[in-house]
Amino acid sequence: MTTTLKIDISKVFDYVPERLVFSRRDEAIKALKALYDKTGKGNDFLGWVHLPSSITDNHLSELKKTAHMLQNEAEILVVTGIGGSYLGTRAVDEALSHSFQPWLKKNDFPRLLYAGQNISEDYMAELLEILEDKSYAIAVISKSGTTTEPAIAFRILREHLEKKVGKDAAAHRIVAITDAHRGALKQLADSQGYKTFVIPDDVGGRYSVLTPVGLLPLAVAGHDIDALVNGARAMEMATSPETAFENNPSALYAATRNTLYRNGKNIEILASFHHKLVWFAEWWKQLYGESEGKDNTGIFPASVNYTTDLHSMGQYVQEGMRSIFESVITVENPAKTLRIPHDEVNLDELNYISNKRIDEVNKMAELGTLLAHVDGGVPNIRISIPALTESSVGELIYFFEIACGISGYLQGINPFDQPGVEAYKKNMFALLGKPGFEELSRKLRNRL
Ligand code: PA5
Repeated sequence: MTTTLKIDISKVFDYVPERLVFSRRDEAIKALKALYDKTGKGNDFLGWVHLPSSITDNHLSELKKTAHMLQNEAEILVVTGIGGSYLGTRAVDEALSHSFQPWLKKNDFPRLLYAGQNISEDYMAELLEILEDKSYAIAVISKSGTTTEPAIAFRILREHLEKKVGKDAAAHRIVAITDAHRGALKQLADSQGYKTFVIPDDVGGRYSVLTPVGLLPLAVAGHDIDALVNGARAMEMATSPETAFENNPSALYAATRNTLYRNGKNIEILASFHHKLVWFAEWWKQLYGESEGKDNTGIFPASVNYTTDLHSMGQYVQEGMRSIFESVITVENPAKTLRIPHDEVNLDELNYISNKRIDEVNKMAELGTLLAHVDGGVPNIRISIPALTESSVGELIYFFEIACGISGYLQGINPFDQPGVEAYKKNMFALLGKPGFEELSRKLRNRL
């Protein structure tokens, strides 16, 4: 199994010398070994490290079987979850789907819509309007089984679906993906006879895209989950502690961003010149933000979509505060071919690029931007994949996951918990009058 992802860190060396990055070699490999040996912080949550290589054919077949069943029953699958319970699915689905999928005359597979990732009344009401005259199924996904946003959405969707098709048919179209034993969702699924899939105990939400959390909805949407997992497997092999540091893309990425961080760059912008990666960047932001934002430390993960954002954020990146570095995901080959037409009149003066493929212009925009930003004091890490395929996206997922674990250990924090997420929840519960939060409710109300 070989990998196709490449990383180029040479455009950070104007800012931090190569020897400084490579001086982190031992630390990075030690961090990687700690992930493998389970000797670092948060070692109860390392089930994702060997997840790709431990996924069995039987497991994939079981997922595909349920996916086929849902494909036969529904035009839409409503993926109901928040954070790690939906971002990976959306990242992969958007990366691999037609840009104008809602407008396609015919869809061969159910389309994915999302619920429970916000608490917007308008969003939910408008989703129900769409679902009213469509056949749909629900994948309700929550590891804890108690998260408020998806719980509210699921209560509404379940009632809607039961009214629409009847209780028994609804139960047949609902799949619950949750903890093996605990939580309200598990209890509900058992009592209602929903098909269930398990999120392993030792895999946290943001590392769960290669569990049924991501694999089931992606299979329903017609994506090749075998190829996705194979891509991740190849990257698991390529990034093991046996690989030399200079050949290990994840160790290089982690060491480079950590060196930049220690030398004053505390914002990382994930950029891409491919609009299909916008949601991939959202997944990445959760992975890195939730993993590293601890103890008042950590790189702030941001994202831009170029060239679109060169006409908005580009000014800041070029000339704003010099606390940023950029990591660019390059897609070497587009899937389709389209050339710029020749025009005799040439009023727009574009004839110098007539007959060129649009992607050639995009690539020159990318290289031009890279050099302009480096010259402007923004170091650049370039991560390239040959094309947007299941396999290369699988590589990319595991590349970023293992790099995130290494990075977190280099930073000295636990990259696998998220205690800070509880603060808003407690306040919300208190303000909503949840039993048990009376004292906090009084305190908060006095401050409002
Ligand atoms: O990464 C995480 O653990 C979180 O973002 C969770 O995925 C998110 O809070 C949703 O949690 P749950 O799946 O328990 O509903």
